[in-house]
Amino acid sequence: MTTISGKKIILGVCGSIAAYKSAFLLRELTRKGAEVRVVMTPSAANFVAPLTFSSLSRNQVHMEMFPEKGRATAAGTWHIELGVWADLMLVAPITATTIAKLTYGIADNFLTSIALALRGPLMIAPAMDADMFIHPATSSNLSKLKERGVFVIEPEEGELASGLTGTGRLAEVDKIVEKVEAFFDGRHRDLEGKKILVSAGPTQEAIDAVRFISNRSSGKMGFSIATAAAQRGAEVKLVTGPVGLETPRSVERKDVTTAQEMYLALDRNIDWCDALIMTAAVADYRVAAPPDRKIKKSEFAEGEAKIDLVENVDILKQLTPRKGKKVFIGFALETDDVLANAKKKLTSKSLDAIVVNNPREKGSGFGTDTNKVRILFAGGGDDVDLPLLTKYEVAQRILDQLKAFL
Ligand code: CTP
Repeated sequence: MTTISGKKIILGVCGSIAAYKSAFLLRELTRKGAEVRVVMTPSAANFVAPLTFSSLSRNQVHMEMFPEKGRATAAGTWHIELGVWADLMLVAPITATTIAKLTYGIADNFLTSIALALRGPLMIAPAMDADMFIHPATSSNLSKLKERGVFVIEPEEGELASGLTGTGRLAEVDKIVEKVEAFFDGRHRDLEGKKILVSAGPTQEAIDAVRFISNRSSGKMGFSIATAAAQRGAEVKLVTGPVGLETPRSVERKDVTTAQEMYLALDRNIDWCDALIMTAAVADYRVAAPPDRKIKKSEFAEGEAKIDLVENVDILKQLTPRKGKKVFIGFALETDDVLANAKKKLTSKSLDAIVVNNPREKGSGFGTDTNKVRILFAGGGDDVDLPLLTKYEVAQRILDQLKAFL
């Protein structure tokens, strides 16, 4: 017996050079006792013959919504029946096109129709050229799917079909099977029962009725942490500054604007949580007395404009007395003396760990979908130096560290 024996899995296969790996995946899943039905997009048949999958699964392979022969013509609702039947739908490999279709709910073939009618969970393993993977359209679609609770098995770095090297290779079959097993045995819900408070995004401090001081934080790192923590079973509250991101599934969200509002929202929830993860880029200063009207140029002396700033509350320092046994993880964005400055913040803000990144490094910092970080620990444990990863994957690695603390 394995954790997947007897489980009903729909294996979706898209038109990618990696489609041949789905045959091995199918064999592994069935060897471990799963009942697998294969659906293919019509373009997948350009890479592997449907007969390969029907022979290995000992079942009919579904591809067309309106085949000339067969049951689908008669019933016309087979995609609904399969969507209800499955304990899990796994699309591996999934292409950029199918990712886009799932994001927007386009049901133009059998596979995308099932995905839309699916009652159970959806897991996808992308495979594509590296440039297609990092294209803003693909990464934004993937973020939306993750926020909706879709499990993404990230592609790996390596040699691609084009001969180029980059991120886009389908995850190894063993890894995909392991994710499926982890899903069924509940291992993926390893933060169940934990309460996690996350801050994200920038804050905005008014200069006058129409202008503000802020920073370039997009909120993506904090939202990725909230998404991943909720998927791993934690109860998650997210306090966010102004960002243009969808609320992750099962996450309670509170929108704030200023540092003071962020402080109050976190203060209100600090006793509730087991861990606080401060990814927010809090503005250190605010305007002393922003008028409730638009400031006119004529109010300043010729060629000169001055606004008086006062220091904002340091939220982490303010919350330190309430820390107790809670785990506090902070972030540090440093461009110079990166490690020395981060170590200082680790101590001065009484953190258990600090995640450092340098926006000058390629693929790091504000607005990107990737990040390269190092995690430092207060207890003096070895730093964890992570390679360039998607923010979602970085979020998972941070949560792995958090789990060890909890
Ligand atoms: N932070 C906070 N309150 C502030 C400023 C920052 O709680 N007023 C938190 C951030 O959310 C982050 C950590 O402190 O987790 C470090 O933030 P960072 O902006 O890197 O450091 P600062 O304390 O602002 O110091 P400096 O701007 O001098 O680098």
